[in-house]
Amino acid sequence: MTKLMLKVLHGNCVDEVPIWIMRQAGRYLPQYRNIRSKFANFMDFCLTPEAAAEVTMQPIEIFGMDAAIIFSDILVVPKAMGMRVEFIEGIGPKLDGISHHSEIEMYSKFDVEIFNKIATSIAITKRIIDSKYPNTALIGFAGGPFTVAAYMIDGGGSRDFAKTMIFMIQNKQYFDKLMNYIVYATIQYLSLQLSAGAEIIKIFDSWASLVPEHLFKAYVIAPINKIIKEVRLLHKDIPIIVFTRGAGTRMEVPDGASCMAIDQYTDLLWCKKKFQNCKKLALQGNYDNFSLAYSKKPDIKHDVENILGKMTDVPYIFNLGHGILPATPVDNLKYLIDIVRKWTANK
Ligand code: CP3
Repeated sequence: MTKLMLKVLHGNCVDEVPIWIMRQAGRYLPQYRNIRSKFANFMDFCLTPEAAAEVTMQPIEIFGMDAAIIFSDILVVPKAMGMRVEFIEGIGPKLDGISHHSEIEMYSKFDVEIFNKIATSIAITKRIIDSKYPNTALIGFAGGPFTVAAYMIDGGGSRDFAKTMIFMIQNKQYFDKLMNYIVYATIQYLSLQLSAGAEIIKIFDSWASLVPEHLFKAYVIAPINKIIKEVRLLHKDIPIIVFTRGAGTRMEVPDGASCMAIDQYTDLLWCKKKFQNCKKLALQGNYDNFSLAYSKKPDIKHDVENILGKMTDVPYIFNLGHGILPATPVDNLKYLIDIVRKWTANK
């Protein structure tokens, strides 16, 4: 096992700290914006394998992270389930939404051809990695079922996803049905990604923050448990990273997860303590994305070294607490990676 990411995800403490960055293929990069400008429609971009493979590799070519994450989006799943998904410049995703429980049945199936496009992006990317970047690991991903359901019901991003919360509480039986459809589609989707060459899976439950404490197990942990269990039937040892953003004290390790990604609001030392009995669990995170974009370099150095210093005795992957902001200067990211690499070398 030569890839640093895989060593850490299998529970080994290593001298070097692997690093990758959420949304590393994104708008902060001029090279990304250049390819992006050729597509009027963001979803078309995600579903064009050659272009997706190209932008996936851009950050690896420029900065040399330890992992590439396939360029795609969590909203590919609602799209495959038959919902219209658009991305509106400056606003974000817009979906049909769900206003009445009778609409849930429309989403009981999925179009595997959409998933196959992403699998093709992965296969192309994996070939590039195998031939040119043998130390880089390839991450596939999907949204957490609750987060995907929230976008499907609310029909886009929202401050409090009130429509989803009300639907969840008032139409429990139908909400559970939708969650099951999403879980089923996600299992097939991730299995296809793994068969195509993904070496790691990450589940982004970015709106786990909304789920109240008494429902957290049912709507965040249990659906992820089910996905992990089913995906591992065919891909036994595959490392799985779970991100339940904003979970705070509700944070819990789903059965069989290899790594918990930590947001910038959660104390790393608190996490270490909370999970000290989870043998071999890796932790990932949690440098603040706003600090990376807007801090002066000495502050970046101080804050990053502070994080590194806390995480020496656990399997640990450096990352941000959420996606890199489009306004982030490329030079700040270069500087960040340099600090992580140098710190490693000085140990
Ligand atoms: O990390 C990577 O580099 C891989 C690609 C990736 C994208 N989206 C590309 C993208 C990943 C892993 C995602 C995950 C994703 N998508 C999440 C979970 C992670 C998180 O950030 O919380 C969520 C909630 C989405 C849904 C989504 N996609 C939103 C809300 C938006 C609009 C907001 C925004 O940042 O623009 C997107 C669009 C999107 N997905 C972009 C990228 C690069 C920007 C769109 C563009 O280039 O025009």
